Amino acid sequence: MAETLTITDNRTGKQYEVPIHDGTIKATDLRQIKVTPDEFGMMTYDPAFMNTAACKSRITYIDGDKGVLLYRGYPIEQLAEQSDFLETAYLILFGELPSAKHYDEWKRNVMLHTMLHTNLSKLMEGFRHDAHPMGMFISTVGALSTFYPDAKDIFSAESRRLQTLRLIAKVPSIAAYCFRHSIGRPFNLPDNDLSYVGNFLNLLFRMTEPRFTVNPVLERALDVLFILHADHEQNCSTSTMRAIGSSHADPYSALAGAAAALYGPLHGGANEAVLRMLNEIGSKNNVPAFIKRVKAGEGRLMGFGHRVYKSYDPRAKIIKRMADLVFDVTGKNPLLDMALELERIALEDEYFVSRKLYPNVDFYSGLIYQAMGFPVDMFPVLFAIPRTAGWIAQWDEMLNDADQKIVRPRQIYIGSGPRDYVPKEKRR
Ligand code: ACO
Repeated sequence: MAETLTITDNRTGKQYEVPIHDGTIKATDLRQIKVTPDEFGMMTYDPAFMNTAACKSRITYIDGDKGVLLYRGYPIEQLAEQSDFLETAYLILFGELPSAKHYDEWKRNVMLHTMLHTNLSKLMEGFRHDAHPMGMFISTVGALSTFYPDAKDIFSAESRRLQTLRLIAKVPSIAAYCFRHSIGRPFNLPDNDLSYVGNFLNLLFRMTEPRFTVNPVLERALDVLFILHADHEQNCSTSTMRAIGSSHADPYSALAGAAAALYGPLHGGANEAVLRMLNEIGSKNNVPAFIKRVKAGEGRLMGFGHRVYKSYDPRAKIIKRMADLVFDVTGKNPLLDMALELERIALEDEYFVSRKLYPNVDFYSGLIYQAMGFPVDMFPVLFAIPRTAGWIAQWDEMLNDADQKIVRPRQIYIGSGPRDYVPKEKRR
């Protein structure tokens, strides 16, 4: 027998049987609940989508209470241990791990698209010397839409595949150009014989040497960080990607919007905010006073808490372990002791325990990025590179989902009723 939910409307005494599928009722099934036939019908009120599934997805699974994260069914721990970012991106985008042959083809095709059009680099040169790299990144990704007008053909699978290659290939180049611009150094050319991450390091850090030597520990660490950030189901930026894509905008415009959503300090800007917070705290001795201020509502402990994880973020666990490997190469980040002390105190404190606030992915990632030589304002850009894979996969899934339409939430209007226009001279 099909599962249903019985709703009794006390206003009319009527009963309604609402079908349950996948443990969910359809919000539009509530519209039949009305007192008079000309009414719009019952809606749900769900600011910030706290309890609304906006899509069905096969990409990423999270169990926030148990701290589980799976990409296409594969545990994040196994991918971080055994995969690399390009392979994980393939998995996220196409649903299966590639065969050795498909992996080689995929890597070759991605690396073929790493160069940026000269006019795009000219455009980037126009930014102010102190422009925030994330602002440059967002604008430049948006500008890609003017370089590839064929991307508007969103219902062609071939076109979507080409834009996917371009985006996965070009976001590291754009990110590196943002960095080079902000430190006043010339842009480097890609070296496509290197790995995806190795080439990114080359674009960022090569100076006068003819061939950049990649440090394998840092290359692997960044690769793992990219795997951990590749997708995270319907978060703020991914929902933005889907929302913009639902109007059939091209993927570059949609991705610029997603990156803009990521920029905020409550989302991908959090790792930047963590570092600023640690610098502001200044020393281990000041940690208890800082925690006290947070508990009094005077600011948040950045890098703590998550809408979905109500236990330790599995990505934070992996990053914390990896930090030691990186610090062996770079030297320890002096802020690490303070971060560990913050975590220790917070995890024992009733305020954080009762609210299930644990370190999230961003609590330790910034310390690693900083030790690797990235300025703090590059952190959200480093998040946007791997998340591009997730954004495109989610966008593609949305376009192929017959249930989807242009996104258009409802509202509860609480403003003024109808009133007559008053000319300026007669207004008080
Ligand atoms: N520090 C102190 N208190 C916090 C924190 C925090 N970091 N996060 C949540 N709380 C408290 C809230 O004040 C609230 O307390 P109350 O019930 O007494 O009012 C309670 O915990 C629940 O918080 P909400 O804001 O309702 O939780 P929500 O799910 O809306 O927020 C969020 C999630 C935005 C991540 C929040 O935990 C936060 O602001 N964290 C800091 C920013 C951060 O690290 N963001 C990165 C998230 S991961 C990512 O996007 C990649």
